[in-house]
Amino acid sequence: METVVSSAVDQAAALLSAGQVVAIPTETVYGLAANALDEAAVQKVFQLKQRPLSDPLIVHVRDSEALANLGIEVPYWAVQLMEKFWPGPLTLLVPRSERIPSVVTAGLPRVAVRAPAHPLLQALLEKVPFPLAAPSANPFGRTSPTTPAHVYAYFAGQIPFILDGGPCLHGLESTIVGEEEGRFVLYRPGAVPREALEEVLGERLVVRSSSSVPHSPGQFPRHYAPTKPLLYGWETPPDEPSASLVYFTPPAQPPDHPHLHVLSPDGRLEEAAARLYDTILRCQAEPTDFILVQRLPVTGLGEAVHDRLRRAAAQALFLFNHPLEWAVLAHLLRRYEIQALLDLRRHTMSRRYPHLAQGPLQKWLAEVGIFYEWQPALNRLLSPLQRLRREYAHIALFCADTEAHKCALQDLVTRLEGEGYTILGVAPEGRLYLHQVSASLRGKPT
Ligand code: TXA
Ligand code: MG
Repeated sequence: METVVSSAVDQAAALLSAGQVVAIPTETVYGLAANALDEAAVQKVFQLKQRPLSDPLIVHVRDSEALANLGIEVPYWAVQLMEKFWPGPLTLLVPRSERIPSVVTAGLPRVAVRAPAHPLLQALLEKVPFPLAAPSANPFGRTSPTTPAHVYAYFAGQIPFILDGGPCLHGLESTIVGEEEGRFVLYRPGAVPREALEEVLGERLVVRSSSSVPHSPGQFPRHYAPTKPLLYGWETPPDEPSASLVYFTPPAQPPDHPHLHVLSPDGRLEEAAARLYDTILRCQAEPTDFILVQRLPVTGLGEAVHDRLRRAAAQALFLFNHPLEWAVLAHLLRRYEIQALLDLRRHTMSRRYPHLAQGPLQKWLAEVGIFYEWQPALNRLLSPLQRLRREYAHIALFCADTEAHKCALQDLVTRLEGEGYTILGVAPEGRLYLHQVSASLRGKPT
């Protein structure tokens, strides 16, 4: 199949009317669109993306009037938000109507709706007599596209048409908001910062974390991931020639490094967000083994950028039973947002390091909300590991500091790497090391 890239809205409209899937520009990211009322066309979108049918799609409409035509009744809080933010990068979860096929909402009682602001997409929505169901135009779990070229790289030969609307303005998906039992919930931080929504609603938004509701839509722990390991959150630039380095702002003393990227020369989060996915996709194409991204501020738009980077990164922190100071350990677990710790030590009553004994460790982890499990039988690791991997993107593994134990971990490391985890080792003084750890665990020279 030939994939045409063009800004001819008529052609896109004709293909969509004929039940085809077409890539569309929005002000956030590119989407993979189909007639939302045509079940077979919507199915094609899931197939192309290799997306599980349990993960519903956003319905794109021209404006709030179009919702009334679909029989969707909009609650008052949603009307208030639409008046302020539509057309724009805000998605609302509202009660579904009969006219929306259940494949679109994955059988859920609510439908996600948004009126995009991109002029070319508005023109397209005026031309077709139906709304468009569209997820981001990337294979499931991968980095979202912000240019027609990104979409082409993913889907050339598989879709007939990419509507070329140039690079996306925001470069980050829409914010998703809904109401649950009288509270407003932020399901996905996005291009409209939380503070702006709270001002209109007059209330704080509750965040749904993926660990409190495993697999709540849009919140898969691992998402937006490049094809090579991404490490997010370093403090001092690691001396890592085989990595692509991504800075938020230009470093005061730029290291002499061939693959250095800056998200925003003057430190603006809007600019960093707009460039984020393009930068990650560039890093992916570089001849490097890792992508290292500096931590960004988490206020305003930073919340969404931070969320994407956390999900794009999957980090497995290997801790060894050596004299790691308590404060250092606590700092590392927080810094890398470790969500679960798997204790692989056979003997957890260490006389040398009493603070690392199972009791105190487990107690502290419970207090800070980190899941703990003791699994000293390495040959029975598979099922706890699979469980962890489904729910947590950032895990720590506590290992004995013996050669025999390290040897026994080889399989585990290979498996984790295969799952896209970046393997991090922690030296006694708290220094992090990167690829050396997998090499040394495999017994290769570093
Ligand atoms: O900016 C955006 O929102 C882009 C552009 C193309 O509009 N779209 C986008 O779609 O990001 P997608 O499918 O990549 O992400 C939408 C998220 C999904 O994670 C999905 O689980 C959630 O919204 N979602 C969609 N419908 C839902 C529903 N009925 N209930 C709960 N969550 C829903
Ligand atoms: Mg997506």
